[in-house]
Amino acid sequence: MKHMTLNVEAFDDWLRTRFVELNNSLEALYWLQDDRANVEGVGEEYKQALESEGRTLILALLDEGNTDEGFDAAFDLLGNVGLYMAACRRHEITEPSRETSSPLVEASALAMQIGASIGVTPRFATAHLTTHNRAHNGLYKRFTDLADERLFVDYNTKGILAYKRAADALLKILPLGISHPISADLLKVARQALQDVMDSNATLFNELDTDRFFYCVRPYYKPYRVGSQVYRGANAGDFAGINVIDLLLGLCFANEQSYSQMLVDKFLYMMPEDQAILRDCMRRTSLMDQFLKASGGHKEAWYQQNLPLFLEVCELHGQTAIQHHDQLVHKYISGPSVDMQQQHMSKVTASGPPLHVLLASLEKLRDRRAAAKRSDIRTRWQDIQRLKASLG
Ligand code: HEM
Repeated sequence: MKHMTLNVEAFDDWLRTRFVELNNSLEALYWLQDDRANVEGVGEEYKQALESEGRTLILALLDEGNTDEGFDAAFDLLGNVGLYMAACRRHEITEPSRETSSPLVEASALAMQIGASIGVTPRFATAHLTTHNRAHNGLYKRFTDLADERLFVDYNTKGILAYKRAADALLKILPLGISHPISADLLKVARQALQDVMDSNATLFNELDTDRFFYCVRPYYKPYRVGSQVYRGANAGDFAGINVIDLLLGLCFANEQSYSQMLVDKFLYMMPEDQAILRDCMRRTSLMDQFLKASGGHKEAWYQQNLPLFLEVCELHGQTAIQHHDQLVHKYISGPSVDMQQQHMSKVTASGPPLHVLLASLEKLRDRRAAAKRSDIRTRWQDIQRLKASLG
């Protein structure tokens, strides 16, 4: 990692200390209310301190201009500006439906300068808090000191890294081909990695407190304005691996409108190297299509050895999607939303669409990944049955 400028360092230090204390104080006040979702008229002196201290530090960075410290430093600084803007949004110091342009003028300018120059969205993305969040003395960047925020981020990071392991293994099959003996090893690696996703999601599901997550963690992931444009919230899905798995297994189709719409929308929320991997994958023939094409030779030893492993990987990928939707989304988003006062409902999801629209699209994604039998959307149910029938 390159040397930080003094201004970058001052802002980073503030974010790791005072910023967290201010958020902690505000969360403690909100939590005491009957309506925990309310932030209006609460802790105004903390909010003001947060807004103005952050602004002063950012102004110094803006004046410093383009410090050209390389991609890592720029991406990291963008994340810091983003955490500040997301916290301002969480405490309704800014509110996209109230404004037409972000009142955080300096932060917006810096975020746009950096985002545009490195080819990512000008807001904080999941990678900033998970896979690219450097720890100092064991402590990584976060909004608050709440145990549930840490649990959530830890298990997001674990899940993302495990999906990436599965994706990397599947990508390595492409040059070898599905009949290669070592492709069996790679399918086993993918199988283990998806099992790791299941295990880590299960721990998250068992240990994360619903109210803490809903009222004190999730609100930091809301959409906010940078300049005049509203950018959707970050979610754990903003990395290429999950879609690499969808496409290489063949469970989802890059040429299907609703799926490719999701990819188009998420490209700039991913790291540039992830963007490149995903673009490449969108042009590849899936492993499923390769197995279907080879099914005439189903008596071959390689086919009988590798296909069951491939089908197991497909099955597990579907299981992780079912777990995400039926457990995590259900317990932590849909359930608590029912109890929430109507006035706050528009603020529930990270991406902005009404909850029922979001849930319906997540449900379709789940069923594609699980190759469920559905007549209204294209799934691989029939092809999976054909492949299973070709096993000896
Ligand atoms: C997207 C909820 C944890 C992977 C989403 C979305 C919701 C959600 C509601 C839709 C985006 C939006 O909010 O606008 C949750 C909850 C979690 C959780 C409540 C835990 C408390 C995880 C974990 C992973 C994950 C640990 C694993 C990496 C994804 C992916 C997407 C996504 C890949 C993008 C859509 C997709 O491709 O399925 N999540 N999530 N989530 N989440 Fe999670």
